[in-house]
Amino acid sequence: MDIAVIGSNMVDLISYIDKMPKEGETLEAPEFEIGCGGKGANQAVAAAKMGSKVMMVTKVGDDLFADNTIRNLENYGIDTEFTNKVLDTSSGVAPIFVDQDSKNRILIIKGANQHLLPEDVDKATEKLKQCSLIVLQLEIPLETIYQAIDFGNEYGIPVILNPAPASKNLDFSHIYKCDFFIPNETELEILTGMPVDTVEQIKAAAGTLIDNGVKDVIVTMGSRGVMWVNKGEVHIVDSHKVAAIDTTGAGDAFIGCFAHYFVQNGDVLLAINMATAFAALSVTKRGTQTSYPSVDEVEQFEGKGLNKIKG
Ligand code: RIB
Ligand code: NA
Repeated sequence: MDIAVIGSNMVDLISYIDKMPKEGETLEAPEFEIGCGGKGANQAVAAAKMGSKVMMVTKVGDDLFADNTIRNLENYGIDTEFTNKVLDTSSGVAPIFVDQDSKNRILIIKGANQHLLPEDVDKATEKLKQCSLIVLQLEIPLETIYQAIDFGNEYGIPVILNPAPASKNLDFSHIYKCDFFIPNETELEILTGMPVDTVEQIKAAAGTLIDNGVKDVIVTMGSRGVMWVNKGEVHIVDSHKVAAIDTTGAGDAFIGCFAHYFVQNGDVLLAINMATAFAALSVTKRGTQTSYPSVDEVEQFEGKGLNKIKG
């Protein structure tokens, strides 16, 4: 096993809209798509598509979405031994609205994801010990995340935490123990309480996390690229210019692909470059997991050398 994602599954209910209705208003929207999502599953799928052996510790409900969600993970070759159903509970769902500028608004109803508990991490101990990397997001209870970070620390398995969606309740004493902290700029702002308008400010905000013990902070900055900060080093990798259609799940695309390349060769900058290309390709297509490219597509795109690394 290469990567364990301990995290969420959601069903994405995506409406492509011209504009949001006002209170009391009924509006027609042109299109709708349903797909598998959830930040955990998206990241697991991205890594699996690149060729990693991935397991998920996750919960689904006992509704009409549940079997489909499990089948979806299995179709991507993801190990579902620790994917369990919760009785009398709905699966996680995410009504998503994508406007004509490809911008999205996402609501999440966590459902079964709220039942992923610290004991579920314990139950998976033997299999988790075989993994080279643990990947976490914030769509499951915080206690479970803390437990997973401690588990990683205890067994010397590096931990990536993607603090999304941002939660003010995060206990930083746990967070500082993770190896990679990968927020977007908004999440970084909410979590540190520091401004993130300029690259300098982002550097300063990321720096406070490093000062407190996080080994590497990687900030995804949308069209401004990606910033990687660790003790004494700052790198910025430029973004690719692509025609964006649907940016839903682009952050997850980045993290899953990054996880794959980091596990394969330990080269953080290379992993950031590949992940930047992977995420760029994902925004050129509709949907979340369904928009993720193949290994060939990413390697070809990245190989064009469009991506410049700055010192
Ligand atoms: O990051 C995108 C994801 O956020 C969507 O797939 C949705 O399910 C929500 O979890
Ligand atoms: Na997309």
